[in-house]
Amino acid sequence: MTPSHDVVLVGGGGAGLRAAIAIAETNSKLSVAVVSKVYPMRSHTVSAEGGAAGVISPDDSLDEHAYDTISGGDWLCDQDAVEAFVKEAPQELLRLEHWGCPWSRETDGRIAVRPFGGMKKMRTWFAADKTGFHMLHTLFQTSLKYASVARYDEWFVTRLLVDEGRVQGVVAIDLKSGRIDAITARAVILCTGGCGRVFPFTTNAAIKNGDGMALAYRAGVPLKDMEFVQYHPTGLPFTGILITEAARSEGGYLVNKDGYRYLQDYALGKPQPQPVFRTMELGPRDRLSQAFMKELEKGRTIDTPYGPVVHLDLRHLGQKKISAKIPFVRELCLKYQNLDPVKDLIPVRPVVHYMMGGVHTDINGATLLPGLYAAGEVACVSINGANRLGSNSLPELLVFGTRAGRTAAEYASLGLEVTSRVLAQSDDERRRLEGELLNHKGRERIADLRDEMQKTMEESAGIYRSGASLARGVERLRGIQERSSDIAIEDQSKTFNTERTAALELSFMLDVAEAIVTSALHREESRGAHQRTDFPKRDDQRFLSHSLIYRNLDGPSRVEYLPVTMTRWPPAERVYGEAAPNEGQHHVAGSALPSGTGV
Ligand code: FUM
Repeated sequence: MTPSHDVVLVGGGGAGLRAAIAIAETNSKLSVAVVSKVYPMRSHTVSAEGGAAGVISPDDSLDEHAYDTISGGDWLCDQDAVEAFVKEAPQELLRLEHWGCPWSRETDGRIAVRPFGGMKKMRTWFAADKTGFHMLHTLFQTSLKYASVARYDEWFVTRLLVDEGRVQGVVAIDLKSGRIDAITARAVILCTGGCGRVFPFTTNAAIKNGDGMALAYRAGVPLKDMEFVQYHPTGLPFTGILITEAARSEGGYLVNKDGYRYLQDYALGKPQPQPVFRTMELGPRDRLSQAFMKELEKGRTIDTPYGPVVHLDLRHLGQKKISAKIPFVRELCLKYQNLDPVKDLIPVRPVVHYMMGGVHTDINGATLLPGLYAAGEVACVSINGANRLGSNSLPELLVFGTRAGRTAAEYASLGLEVTSRVLAQSDDERRRLEGELLNHKGRERIADLRDEMQKTMEESAGIYRSGASLARGVERLRGIQERSSDIAIEDQSKTFNTERTAALELSFMLDVAEAIVTSALHREESRGAHQRTDFPKRDDQRFLSHSLIYRNLDGPSRVEYLPVTMTRWPPAERVYGEAAPNEGQHHVAGSALPSGTGV
C-alpha cells in the first residue's frame, strides 16, 4: 500500500526536525513523515561549529542584530523577515535549552556568548565548537517524543507529486532495498540544505547536492537570489574542512606569507590588542574572502600543493584557551592537517560554505506552489541578502523551521484529498528510475561530468566573476547537461546503489548550477558575495531586488526581479572599522556600543 501522511518533510537535519516538532505541537493528530537520505544525526547540521546568534545580553538589542544582519547582507535582506527572525531567535535558543541543549556557560551560570563576524555585540550562543552537533542531538531526541512523527531514514526523494496545482507528496527510493514508492501527503516541506557540492572546494558534506532546490525548480517554483554564494574565509586546504570563525572570535589572526595581518589593508579597521567587533578578522565573510583574492593577486599568499593559502595564527591564545573554547579546531588540525595549532600556523583558504539563495518562500516558508514549503538553507526567505553573517543560519533553521511547520500544519488540516492521478505520476517515476536510468548503457562517466561541472562553477562563478566568465559557464554547463543524458550506470543492484544515487544527484546539481550562473549573469552589479569585475559597484537603481529564476524546459531559464522589502533601514554604505553614517539612529535606548569596539 502507498504510504500516506498529512505532511512529508524532506530532510532530517535541523530545519526538518524543528519543523516536525512544530507540526506535532500544532496538531498532534497530523501524521508527519521525516524522509531523509541519511540517518538524521548524519545531516549536515551536525557539522556546524561556531554558534547560533540571538540577542541575550542587556546591552544588546533586537534592532542592533537586525541592523548587523541587514548591512551584512548589503541591503538585500527582506527587513520584515529579519525583524521576525531577530525577535524569535532568542526564544528558539531558549526553547532548545529547555529541551536539553548544553549551551556553554559563564562561571556564574549565564549563557556564554561570543562575538562573530560582522556583528557588533556578543550574541553568538555556542556549545564549545560543536554547536550543530549538540543542537541536532537535542532536536532529534525531542522529535522522538512524538508518536505522530514517522521516519524514513535513508530514503532519497527524486520527485514531487503535483496535481490540480498543488503538491500531494513525493516519490522516493528506499536506499536499503531499492524499493521505489510514492509517499503521499497534503503538504510537503523541503529541508534538504544547500548545494555547496556544485563547487569543487566546499565545507559541505557530500549529501549537499541541492536536491530540494532542484525538486522545487523542476516543479515550476522559482529559485531566489541564487547568484549569492558564500565563501567562508577559513577552510583547510585539500579537505575543505571548516576552521570555525570562533577561532578568530577567540582572538586568532590571519596573516599572509610575510606574517603580516593583511586585513588592515582592506578597510576593515586596524589591529587592536583584543579582537574588536566588526573589524579585521571579525569582519564579514564576503569582505574577508575578497581580501584573500587581493592578497593572492599581490603575490602575498603561500603556495601549497592544494592551492594558495594564508595562515591562521592561534599560537598566542595558548593551550588552555584553545582546549576550553575551540577544542574541535585543535582536533581537526591534528587529525586532518597533522599540525597542532597550539604551536603551529594553520594553512587556510576561502571555501564555498553556504547558499544565500534558495527556494523562494514567504516569511512562513510557503512557496508559490500550494502545499509546498521550504525552510533552512534550501530556502530563501530572505534574511541573508547578499551575504549571511556567521551564526545566523542555525537560528534561521529554528525560526523558519518552526514557522514552516506551523503553516504547513494549518494547510494540511484543511483536509484536501490526494488525487488518483498522482499515483500514475509515481508509476512514471518508477519506470524512469528502474528502467531508463538503471538500464542505461551510456558512454559518459558520472565522476567526469561532476568534476567538469565543479571546475566550471569555480572558474565562472567564483569569488570574482565577470559577464564573460559567466557566459562561458552557461555554455559549458549546457554541454555537460546534454552529455549527462548519456551516462553509464554499471551497478544494477537494488541495495544501496550509490551509482544510481550519484547520477540523480548529479542531475539535481546541474539544474542548480545553471540557476546560479544564469542568475549571476543577469545581475550586472557587485553586492555582497556577488562581485562582478565588469560591474564593480552596487547599483541600487537597478538591482535593489531579488532575482527569481524559473526553469524553462524549452530554452534559457527566465529571470525576473522582486523588490526587497524595506521597513526601517534605508540602504546605506557598508562600513566596517568605523561607524556607518546612519547606524546610530536605530539603537534602542540604553544600548550604546561599549567603548573601544572600534565601530
Ligand atoms: O565558522 C563557523 O563556525 C560557521 C558558522 C556559520 O556558518 O554560521
